[in-house]
Amino acid sequence: MATALKLIPRHIAIIMDGNGRWARSRGLPRIKGHEKGADAVRACVEACGELKVEFLTLYAFSAENWQRPKTEVFALMRLLERFLKEKTAELLEKNVRLQAIGRLTDLPAGCQKQLHESIERTSGNTGLTLILALSYGGRLEIIDGIKSLLRQIDSGHIDRAMIDVDMFSKHLYTRYYPDPDLLVRTSGEMRLSNFLLWQLSYTEMYVTPKLWPDFTKKDLFDAVEDFGRRNRRYGAVEN
Ligand code: FPP
Repeated sequence: MATALKLIPRHIAIIMDGNGRWARSRGLPRIKGHEKGADAVRACVEACGELKVEFLTLYAFSAENWQRPKTEVFALMRLLERFLKEKTAELLEKNVRLQAIGRLTDLPAGCQKQLHESIERTSGNTGLTLILALSYGGRLEIIDGIKSLLRQIDSGHIDRAMIDVDMFSKHLYTRYYPDPDLLVRTSGEMRLSNFLLWQLSYTEMYVTPKLWPDFTKKDLFDAVEDFGRRNRRYGAVEN
């Protein structure tokens, strides 16, 4: 299946939604949905590796998710730490380079330590770059970008007349990565939920009713196949 796909997005971003509904429909606690969701992450990373996608950004924990009940937040942080601890060897074996974006210093100390260790250990890998968005908010990112730009202006490194789209992009968390070509959202919701607000300007969107824990490699291939049929014009007209 993967080999039949002609046009492969360079960067895929995913809003992994529906873990809670998946659990509720089975009479399980929400964390069971997140645990099953972590298995779907593994399948998705594998699929992207097979397709030779260069960047995969996963919305794993939003800045707004801190408002969830303490028990759920705690369980999610523990799951993330465990996932990183257990899967780093697999990331190394699959040549995946791990990165993270967001206000990472908001994360519990143990989680930060494991995250930085996994990032460091996989830093030499040359295959897929897996970017976890953690304590991430698109509006916060833009605010942080403006502050960073103002610091450079105040210190005389740049002149405000030089500010343009490219320059501002270099002050965002995502400065090292290209903008996503394809955004996938599961669970049928038609919104961005404060995810990569600047970077998704010309990204193709694919929304599936599947809940994230049910998302399979085949679902990712279907999304990529659909992407291959899109006609991207970036606001211009067709030739
Ligand atoms: C949204 O579902 C999902 C999250 C807030 C967390 C995403 C986390 C994972 C997929 C597992 C851990 C990730 C990694 C990278 C190990 P929801 O809880 O909002 O679902 P609902 O809308 O049905 O309530």
